[in-house]
Amino acid sequence: MSMNKKQVLFIGAGRMAQALIKGLDKNEFDIVVGNSGNEGRLREVKEAFDVETTNDWSNEIRKMDIIILAMPPASHDDILAKLSETIREQVIITVAAGIDPTHLESKLPKGTPVAWVMPNTAAKLGKSMTLYALGQHVNQEQQEWIEKLICGIGEFEKVTERQIHELTAVTASAPAFIYRLAEALEQITIESGVSEAQARKLVANMIAGSAEMLKTNVAPAELVDAVATPGGSTAAGLEVLDINHLDHLMIDAIEACRQKAMV
Ligand SMILES: NC(=O)c1ccc[n+]([C@@H]2O[C@H](COP(=O)([O-])OP(=O)(O)OC[C@H]3O[C@@H](n4cnc5c(N)ncnc54)[C@H](OP(=O)(O)O)[C@@H]3O)[C@@H](O)[C@H]2O)c1
Repeated sequence: MSMNKKQVLFIGAGRMAQALIKGLDKNEFDIVVGNSGNEGRLREVKEAFDVETTNDWSNEIRKMDIIILAMPPASHDDILAKLSETIREQVIITVAAGIDPTHLESKLPKGTPVAWVMPNTAAKLGKSMTLYALGQHVNQEQQEWIEKLICGIGEFEKVTERQIHELTAVTASAPAFIYRLAEALEQITIESGVSEAQARKLVANMIAGSAEMLKTNVAPAELVDAVATPGGSTAAGLEVLDINHLDHLMIDAIEACRQKAMV
């Protein structure tokens, strides 16, 4: 078993790296973590997750099977240039917004297997809805490693590179839309005289329960019908949302995210 253990290097030790490291099966992967020099952060990571750390990740590259880039998009081109000097057949994975497989392939030696993984902030709790797309040179076995790496942060779905560009707005940005909705509902709830903690409990569990219902694969429209009797009180509320075109508002909000991401 241990003979087949894969050697994984993280370049970047922040929130996303830590969420991934937390979810990794140590029977499958040996982990080394590097960053841009914040030694305190490396000590924290070592202590929290019992992994190896390095203050010179470039020394580790030759031993690695997989390299995960968990740092800002703007740092990528420098790091990719550095990696290009030493990598052989390692799989290079990025979690950075906007850095797609076409870009990775254009900066790395020909034939390098690459992947783009797009988690969301719920990765912290192992509840991310993660999208991933592969480059042209990833084989079946490597795809399996990639899925083993990301299954620890939640659910995942393989899509195309173009689809990640379009759907990041839904899986990674739209959680903020839900939180905005929660903010408004909490405010209304507090106005009934309950405490902030009670309002948080009511709203959070209402949303969590609704999400669980959606996960049973019943269509949202059917779930709406199950709550709203025609002519009843819920229907009156839905009418307000419909008159004000909640659907158009969602389309516009998603479109705004997409436009901004293209800049
Ligand atoms: N947080 C999320 O929910 C989320 C979701 C989807 C995608 N992402 C993507 O994940 C990536 C990391 O985000 P994060 O939230 O984990 O950021 P973060 O908490 O700010 O951590 C960034 C990490 O990158 C390291 N770093 C920065 N520049 C570097 C360089 N030139 N060389 C090596 N390491 C460098 C930092 O090193 P030091 O430790 O030395 O400061 C730090 O460890 C970003 O590209 C982001 O787009 C994040």
